[in-house]
Amino acid sequence: MTTPDHPRSHSPEDTLNPSDWEAFRARLHAMLNAAIDKMEHAAEGRVWTPFPEEMKETFSLTETGLPPEEIDATLRALLPYGVGNTHPRFFGWVHGAGTPSNLVADITAAAINANTGGRNHGAIEVERQLVDWCKRLFSFPEGASGLIVSGTSMATIIALKAARDSQLDFQSRADGIGAHHLVGYTSSEAHACIARAFDLLGLGTAALRKIPVTSDHQLDLSLLRAAIAADRAAGLEPFLIAGTCGSVNAGTIDDLSALADVSDAENLWFHVDGAFGALGILSERLRPRLTGLERADSIAFDFHKWLHVNYDAGCILIRSGEAHLRAFSDRPDYLKSADRGLAAGGTWPVELGPELSRGFRALKVWAQIAEHGEEKLGRLITQNCEQAAYLGELVQATPELDLLLPVSMQICCFRYVREGLSAKALNRLNEEIVIQLQLQGIAAPSTTLIDGHTAIRVNITNHRTRRSDLDLLVREIRRIAKEVPGSD
Ligand SMILES: Cc1ncc(COP(=O)(O)O)c(C=O)c1O
Repeated sequence: MTTPDHPRSHSPEDTLNPSDWEAFRARLHAMLNAAIDKMEHAAEGRVWTPFPEEMKETFSLTETGLPPEEIDATLRALLPYGVGNTHPRFFGWVHGAGTPSNLVADITAAAINANTGGRNHGAIEVERQLVDWCKRLFSFPEGASGLIVSGTSMATIIALKAARDSQLDFQSRADGIGAHHLVGYTSSEAHACIARAFDLLGLGTAALRKIPVTSDHQLDLSLLRAAIAADRAAGLEPFLIAGTCGSVNAGTIDDLSALADVSDAENLWFHVDGAFGALGILSERLRPRLTGLERADSIAFDFHKWLHVNYDAGCILIRSGEAHLRAFSDRPDYLKSADRGLAAGGTWPVELGPELSRGFRALKVWAQIAEHGEEKLGRLITQNCEQAAYLGELVQATPELDLLLPVSMQICCFRYVREGLSAKALNRLNEEIVIQLQLQGIAAPSTTLIDGHTAIRVNITNHRTRRSDLDLLVREIRRIAKEVPGSD
């Protein structure tokens, strides 16, 4: 007989849980072993391998589910095809190398599966503790606030929105920027994420003045002052200076104290892009060069670069917690706070940034700092700077190589030179050398342009790199250069 509670017409209830937990346990342990093997042997084999055509097919999705063994085989086969940043000879752009111990935190975070947009739970508290650590690290005041984000690009958008809205007394949140013509200043060496934030915030990229740099690649202060004066005279509204603490091309640092002075004198928001350089504060070697960072109104930086936290994790720190909150806070009825229960717990992350649903990034950052400690993490940053200096010396001792810029932090830019080649042909040769290093799986530097010359750009934000890797790099560059057609 059918009762109202158990109508026969209902289909059987299902779940995504495994039907056999013991089999699942064995399956996860096997995958974990494969992941640990990859970490243990990270220094072996090719740096980067192009993703094979035939493997693309294995990822095309079908309507029906696949057996777990098939899925796991596909996942295991994917392990060698990352960008290469776990390898000690990955030298491109600015990528961190990750750590084996971060697997533990990643698994824990996946098991908790917390949504950290808000509410009253442990993950929120871990993030608060981490932000407090950052505030202490940069000598920010008690009233400062911060948020763990995907990376410096997102952190910059949040900082510049707080700066924009502060300038317009937060009316811009409702009214937009209207007739206001806000302008900001950064150096010609600044990362593109600053212009992107101007674009996204409706300011327009043309409102970001790219001030030329001095011969040591720092924002030129006299040109900055002149640009501000000219803009004010033209009736525009200067509101922001964005300094660079570690430029992506060459690892140079603006004179942060001087920029803070100009910002104070002109009453402008002082933002610092410290994507990789800000955490140089952990390194005894770099710390003295970061003076002035503690005076910033906002700092954007990454944990996934020089702290080697597994991708992705960055942070925005804002001196005025009030400005930060006023730029983002919005608690509609369904997010109403309470003094007890799940809706308790003060300010929620959703009030400090654009995302409501967000994962538990803070745990892997917390675990990295908790396990390895500030001193060791700082020492590894110093180690990379010393390795870059060593590479600079190798370059200078090699007649075919030309150091294009003094090594500032962890970046060394140089090129291969050959008598008789035109400037264009030399650029092509250096581009080809980098491509060959990548294709042959030997190393993965990137390229950039320094004073019109194509540079082989070696960035070392890698705790696995050894000096022998740099010796090998120089040897292989010389070998490849001789093999590139038409270069001899
Ligand atoms: C100086 C600088 N700023 C900003 C960024 C962007 O950071 P993310 O990729 O974490 O968004 C980078 C990335 O390399 C960088 O080097």
